[in-house]
Amino acid sequence: MKTFASVLLLGLLILEAVFAAPTKNEEKAKKFKQIQLLPDDHFAEAEFLNQDPRNVYEYEDELTINEPLIEIGSLTPSGSRELVSYDSDYEEEEYVPYEPLDPGAPSVPGFLGPESKEGLSTCLMCTCLSGSVYCDDTDIKSIPALPKETTHFYARFNKLTNIKKGDFAGLNHLKRIDVTGNRISSIDEDALRQLPELVDLMLASNELVQLPELPKTMVSIDASYNKLHSNGIKKEAFKDMNNLEYLYLAGNGLNYVPLPLPESLRSINLQNNNVQQIDDDTFCNSKDIHYIRKALELIRLDGNPINLSKTPHAYICLPHVPYGNY
Ligand SMILES: *[C@@H]1O[C@H](CO)[C@@H](O)[C@H](O)[C@H]1NC(C)=O
Repeated sequence: MKTFASVLLLGLLILEAVFAAPTKNEEKAKKFKQIQLLPDDHFAEAEFLNQDPRNVYEYEDELTINEPLIEIGSLTPSGSRELVSYDSDYEEEEYVPYEPLDPGAPSVPGFLGPESKEGLSTCLMCTCLSGSVYCDDTDIKSIPALPKETTHFYARFNKLTNIKKGDFAGLNHLKRIDVTGNRISSIDEDALRQLPELVDLMLASNELVQLPELPKTMVSIDASYNKLHSNGIKKEAFKDMNNLEYLYLAGNGLNYVPLPLPESLRSINLQNNNVQQIDDDTFCNSKDIHYIRKALELIRLDGNPINLSKTPHAYICLPHVPYGNY
C-alpha cells in the first residue's frame, strides 16, 4: 500500500508539473525538474499537450488535477478518475489499477475495468486521463481499441489512413475526436453517425475527398485542408444539426457554400476554396426581408474566385459582411 501511495503521489506530481503554467514559482520549477527524469518522448508529449490551449482548458475544466495533494485520497475510491503513472525507475508507463479501499465494497469497474483489456493495452501506448485518450505523435496507422468510457480521443500527427465502421462502435460517451494531421483518405459512411454524444470532430490536414454522415449532435466540425469538392459533401449535410456553431472547411476545393446552413451557426470558414457564386438565399432569405441571421458572426470567403461586390443583397440579414474580395 505504501508503494501504491508513493506511485500515486509521483503520478500526481508529474501531472501537476505537466499542467502547471511554465511561468510559476520555484516550487513548480523543481517539479519540472523531476519530470525531466522521464524518458524524452513522454516529456515532449506532455509539453506538446500543455501548449495546446484547448487541452489546457479541458484539463482544467474536467480534471482540476492542479489541486492540493489531499485529493489523492479521493482519486481512487470513486473509480471515476484514473492516473497514468510511472514505475519508480522511470522506465515504463504504468496504469494504477482501481483498488477499492474497503475490500468488502462492491467492485465498480473503472475506466479501464477488467472488461476492456484491449483498451488497457491502448493506455500503455497512449496516455489515458479520466475519459481522455491521447495518442498524439505515436506513429499509429489505425485507430486503436478504445475503452468504452472514452469521452475524448486525440490522435493528432500520426499515420492514420482511414477510419473504419467498427473503430468507434459502442463508444456512447465519445464527445470529441481529433485526428488532425494524418493521411486519412476515407471514413466509412457509418463510422461516426451513430455516436450519440459526438460534438467535436477535428479532421483538418488529411486527404479526405468525402465527408461521412455525422450525428445531429455536432457543435464543431473542422475538415479544413483536405481534398473535399462539393460533391464530397452530401446535400443538406448540415441542415439538421441544430447545435452546429463552427464549420471549418478552409483549404478544400468546394465550388459552393454547403446549404442550408443551420441557424445555430456562428462561424463558417471557406477560405481558399473554389466558391464562385453566392446569391440572396445563400445566407439570407429573399422572401423575408425582416429575416436576420443573428448568430452568424464570421464568414470567411477570402481566397475564393468570387467578387462579393456583385451580390450586395446577399448580406443584408447578416451582422457582419463576409471576409473576401470586394
Ligand atoms: C468587384 O466588382 C466591382 C463592381 O463590379 C468592381 O468595382 C471591383 O473592382 C471588383 N473587385 C475585384 C477585386 O475584382
